[in-house]
Amino acid sequence: MSARLIDGAAIGAEIRAEVAAQVALLTAQGIVPSLAVVLVGEDPPSQIYVRSKAKACIAAGMHSEVITLPADTPGAELASVIDRLNADPRVHGILCQLPLPPQMHDDAILRRIDPAKDVDGFHPVNVGKLVLGDPSGFKPATPYGIQQLLMRSGIEPRGAHVVIVGRSNLVGRPLANLLSLPGAGGDATVTVAHSRTHDLAAMCRTADILVVAIGRAEFIKAAAVKPGATVIDVGTTRVNDATRPRGYRLAGDVAFDEVREVAGAITPVPGGVGPMTIAMLLVNTLQSASAQRAGR
Ligand code: GUN
Repeated sequence: MSARLIDGAAIGAEIRAEVAAQVALLTAQGIVPSLAVVLVGEDPPSQIYVRSKAKACIAAGMHSEVITLPADTPGAELASVIDRLNADPRVHGILCQLPLPPQMHDDAILRRIDPAKDVDGFHPVNVGKLVLGDPSGFKPATPYGIQQLLMRSGIEPRGAHVVIVGRSNLVGRPLANLLSLPGAGGDATVTVAHSRTHDLAAMCRTADILVVAIGRAEFIKAAAVKPGATVIDVGTTRVNDATRPRGYRLAGDVAFDEVREVAGAITPVPGGVGPMTIAMLLVNTLQSASAQRAGR
């Protein structure tokens, strides 16, 4: 039987509408939530992501500023752009689109962003708050979006065995922390699996909820999925496809056609996790504007 589709586009739209209503209330009080996105270089997927983020901000009634810098910008120049945004009280959220060009040190740049404006949740202060379950921090948008997808689809992490394939700082590791915290949307038993895991397929088959975030097109096959499990696919790899107008298609990390015959619920690519990431970035920007209004 075919799995239920988890519609990230619809759930993301629902969240964006909730954010827009809150933005209208803040705007009536003279505060327009504002997100600044810095894009260095001309990586085509990054250009698309940044454009989508700016469009979503404007659609929610927020202010959007996109700063584009050439790929050969010295690291010190990017640092001074961040310093300016840190000091500007009209800017509530700052995001540096990753990956950055090689001459820039991601860690140093991400640490330069004021943690109170770090709506990506990548600054060590926010990583620490996430691990401790301190709600004053920002949760990274993709893991936060996955948690919301589960909760709003009626899929309960409490008591479930969640296997996360991929241990990145962007997705796997923060998601493991989020889902294992006590309370609503948490209380899961989490395993983080990766390229060194012995018998990865057997490990995946123990999952009630399987999350795959490795960036390898269609890597997880039906044999790695327990019948009835929920499968969340974070991958978006461009695969050459001459039949498509752009010459490529987007593939997830999961072999969708075969896995949907085994899983109980599954996210499509595109239209699953992707729209949630943008929605949660707006949630974080709203959280930042509200916190700054409250003087925190
Ligand atoms: N590149 C891919 N995903 C992300 C993200 O969530 N934030 C930033 N800043 N860059 C990314």
